[in-house]
Amino acid sequence: MIDLASKKVLIVGGSSGMGLATAHAVAAAGADLTIAGRTRDKLDVAAKAIGGKVATKVLDARDDDAVEAFFKDGTVWDHIVVTVGQGGRGPLPAMKMTDALAAMDAKFWCCFRIGRAAKIGPGGSLTFVSGGEGHRGQIGTTLISSINAALAGLTRGLAIELAPVRVNTLSPGTTDTPLWDRMTPTDREALFKRVADTLPVKRLGQAEDAAHAIRFLMTNPFTTGQVVRSDGGGDLL
Ligand SMILES: NC(=O)c1ccc[n+]([C@@H]2O[C@H](COP(=O)([O-])OP(=O)(O)OC[C@H]3O[C@@H](n4cnc5c(N)ncnc54)[C@H](OP(=O)(O)O)[C@@H]3O)[C@@H](O)[C@H]2O)c1
Repeated sequence: MIDLASKKVLIVGGSSGMGLATAHAVAAAGADLTIAGRTRDKLDVAAKAIGGKVATKVLDARDDDAVEAFFKDGTVWDHIVVTVGQGGRGPLPAMKMTDALAAMDAKFWCCFRIGRAAKIGPGGSLTFVSGGEGHRGQIGTTLISSINAALAGLTRGLAIELAPVRVNTLSPGTTDTPLWDRMTPTDREALFKRVADTLPVKRLGQAEDAAHAIRFLMTNPFTTGQVVRSDGGGDLL
């Protein structure tokens, strides 16, 4: 396994949820950590919670120029993790095209932009996060499924284009993170209970579960071009 001590690690999305849990794990392993996201306050709160020396950077991965500029500073990263994403759910007939394009931009094109602009050294890795919907059809998840499936293609292509840098994607199941804060507490609890009751593991995913899988993908030197499912067995249902 690759040792993360003193390695330059960037987590785009490191201020919340799976990205933040990964940031905690990576910082504990002694990495030289930078977290990036769009919101200064969230980054500051996250950096304080992680403790130690964590660099923070405001970056909107939907902004071509900002992403280009960010990676032009000469830094060669050892590991980059991208956990951004927003939108893409709902039945297609009711979805506005502007919202559909925005959802694709908020996840797929962010990963694409970072993948083409990032400077990662040999032995390093790039890890994305997709989602279970990428594997099956379901009313209300057609667009997010398409976005996640596109990420699988990007993962395989970049694993060849950026080799020997390893490129992988984690496909997690429903996970208790601030992503679900847009729901009412009652609806969220009902969803979480339904998911936990249905899954073979009989519990909901936690951000730390995703962080554990992401850390595997960052540090296993023989894994590349893969979409790895860690979804409590959801894919079996
Ligand atoms: N939670 C789940 O149940 C679940 C299940 C399957 C897949 N996923 C996927 O897993 C990934 C991580 O989800 P999560 O639950 O950890 O979400 P989260 O808690 O909402 O965290 C998302 C992070 O990404 C940052 N971010 C969002 N858009 C960005 C942008 N354009 N540029 C830079 N940073 C941006 C956010 O900070 P700012 O808002 O400040 O930018 C935040 O730090 C997402 O791709 C999501 O679709 C989640």
